[in-house]
Amino acid sequence: MPKRRDWYVAGAGIAGVGLAAWRTYFPWIGDDIKTLRLITKAYKRVFEKVSNERYLIDTFEEHVRQTPGKAFMLFEDRVYTYSYMDQMANKVANLVMSWKIPIGETVAIMIENEPAFVWTFLGLQKVGLAAAMINYHLTGQPLTHSIKAGSPKALIIGQTSPFLDAIMDIRSNLPSDLPIYVQGRSQNDLPEGYLSMDDELIHSLPVPVARAYRKDVTPLSPLCYIYTSGTTGLPKPAIINQTKAMAVGSMFKLFDYDSNDTVYVVTPLYHSSATHLGFFNTIDAGATFALRRKFSARHYWEDVRKYNVTVLLYIGELCRYLLAVPQHPEDGDHKVRCAIGNGLRKDIWTEYKTRFKIPEIYEFIGATEGTGSFINVCNRVGSIGRLSPFMRWVFGKNIDTVIVKYDQDTNEPLRDANGHCMHIGPGEQGLMISVVPPSHTGFYRGPKEMDDKKTIRDAFVKGDAWFNFGDAVYMDKDYNIYFRDRTGDTFRWKSENVSTAEVANAISGLDFIRDVNVYGVEVPGADGKAGMAAVMLKNEYTVNEKLLKKLYKHCERELPFYARPLFLRFMTEFIITQTMKNRKVELVKEAYDPFEVKDALYVIDPQNKSYKPLTKANYQQVINSKL
Ligand SMILES: *[C@@H]1O[C@H](CO)[C@@H](O)[C@H](O)[C@H]1NC(C)=O
Ligand SMILES: *[C@@H]1O[C@H](CO)[C@@H](O)[C@H](O)[C@H]1NC(C)=O
Ligand SMILES: *[C@@H]1O[C@H](CO)[C@@H](O)[C@H](O)[C@H]1NC(C)=O
Ligand SMILES: *[C@@H]1O[C@H](CO)[C@@H](O)[C@H](O)[C@H]1NC(C)=O
Ligand SMILES: *[C@@H]1O[C@H](CO)[C@@H](O)[C@H](O)[C@H]1NC(C)=O
Repeated sequence: MPKRRDWYVAGAGIAGVGLAAWRTYFPWIGDDIKTLRLITKAYKRVFEKVSNERYLIDTFEEHVRQTPGKAFMLFEDRVYTYSYMDQMANKVANLVMSWKIPIGETVAIMIENEPAFVWTFLGLQKVGLAAAMINYHLTGQPLTHSIKAGSPKALIIGQTSPFLDAIMDIRSNLPSDLPIYVQGRSQNDLPEGYLSMDDELIHSLPVPVARAYRKDVTPLSPLCYIYTSGTTGLPKPAIINQTKAMAVGSMFKLFDYDSNDTVYVVTPLYHSSATHLGFFNTIDAGATFALRRKFSARHYWEDVRKYNVTVLLYIGELCRYLLAVPQHPEDGDHKVRCAIGNGLRKDIWTEYKTRFKIPEIYEFIGATEGTGSFINVCNRVGSIGRLSPFMRWVFGKNIDTVIVKYDQDTNEPLRDANGHCMHIGPGEQGLMISVVPPSHTGFYRGPKEMDDKKTIRDAFVKGDAWFNFGDAVYMDKDYNIYFRDRTGDTFRWKSENVSTAEVANAISGLDFIRDVNVYGVEVPGADGKAGMAAVMLKNEYTVNEKLLKKLYKHCERELPFYARPLFLRFMTEFIITQTMKNRKVELVKEAYDPFEVKDALYVIDPQNKSYKPLTKANYQQVINSKL
């Protein structure tokens, strides 16, 4: 716990007296004080837990003892109490114990949003194993890669039937001695080489595993691996250690999330938003979480009312989909006290807040593998938080997240005469970075180069290290911060990062492609950027239906759905690789406008599993469809 912050908390009361006078000179001081006060509250909680070595699973078991009959989870009209979840987790723990996997090792899980995800995860925690949380939307090469990157000692797949098919397709590429357990099926229904988890669980006792069994777990032990979608290549397993889980699991202390609260979670649990915020904070507070298998805009508010939800967890796109549903007399009829999430943009913020009557919005920015974050606790429309010189002074040496000036061509931080990074000022755009402590064991599991790519060294003093979020942000005159864009060769679509290099590599694997350049383009009314590929065919080929179908099929096989290009542009002149950077800027600017671009343009056509021409005639219709 930083000393200066302690001092600040004590001083805040006194500062309040003179606040009115201060406000005249520094109109933003109230926002600073509110931000500092709330952040400090959450920090205190983390400090308490870390110093008592009270890990996530210990906190869960404590609530089981205190409130066994309380609802932990609400799912498809069923109530899963703390004690029921605990018993199921115990069964898993006792079964997994019999597998004799050493503490600290990994088990991969590929389970949809359902109670089994939660009790499997908790069961692994009880025996000190980390869960590698596989994105179940993946198939083919990305799926193989994700599983292997986690180096699991076993794989557990959920009952959803396409998951088994996806695994069977790639079985020969996985280690042959990897045991694969399937939920929801008996051994008789499974092909050879697969084990029934349910059959095994029948004989497993729901009795607790002694805490001493996991005595070797430390604050640095991995709790789980969450894959971040390929910012610089294929999905990478980000290490979530016990400390990080305690920290992110205390974030809701900002708004005093307690045992009377219910959070509604509709995004996949294999991502950090749902798990870190919804799941972990619910455990921390002994609260309830209402889970949905898949987001549905139509059933959203119905669920919120049915489950007496008090906290909403959003991502920007989700709010957009909700606003696209026609107005309803019951809009705003709920018990929600706040919404927390990421990616709610300025253009829909006010509409979302007023139409659905959301009292408070907490918009934050962080990274699964990052060591810091910002959060907007002041309801400033469109902002992701704030960082004033006053706040920097209060935090002093303990500041964890800052914004530095950078070169927008190279995406590298700019350095002053002494080689130091420079903080941005009001009206400037910068790069978000967070400090990496010397004890840090790494962002990702795997080759160290992956970490190096995300690390900025000697930023302010010789030997320091900072995590580069890869996010460009802008600061207004009152020190509020706004998200601008992803930097470098990635863009965001459907809340996933898309690496242009990864997409280009996949496409250039086709025998008729000579050259390809991939970039993101804006689509009105949609969040993020849509993928577009400018391709040049080898001389002997021309664009035709067969070729387009082949291209589509190839992308479908090689790339996750969010990374597949939505637009194609067939270039007739060679794209010179050395000058690609400059050319790319032009390509991005021209985008897919048939009134501007002379080259043949195509847009994805999922019904026909192909691409169809994008013309002056259908342009407007395509844009309106928002893809
Ligand atoms: C939950 O609500 C009850 C009844 O309103 C109240 O007595 C209790 O203090 C609340 N619990 C917490 C942790 O605030
Ligand atoms: C929601 O609240 C109402 C009224 O307080 C109560 O009757 C109902 O059981 C609650 N539903 C759930 C799922 O907690
Ligand atoms: C996108 O990249 C950032 C930075 O590497 C990461 O923290 C985040 O989790 C990624 N998003 C997804 C959905 O993987
Ligand atoms: C554990 O994770 C936190 C948050 O990401 C980080 O600050 C800390 O350095 C990590 N510890 C180790 C030893 O990696
Ligand atoms: C599929 O392609 C055919 C031939 O190009 C076209 O006539 C038809 O309208 C397409 N179907 C859809 C659903 O777009």
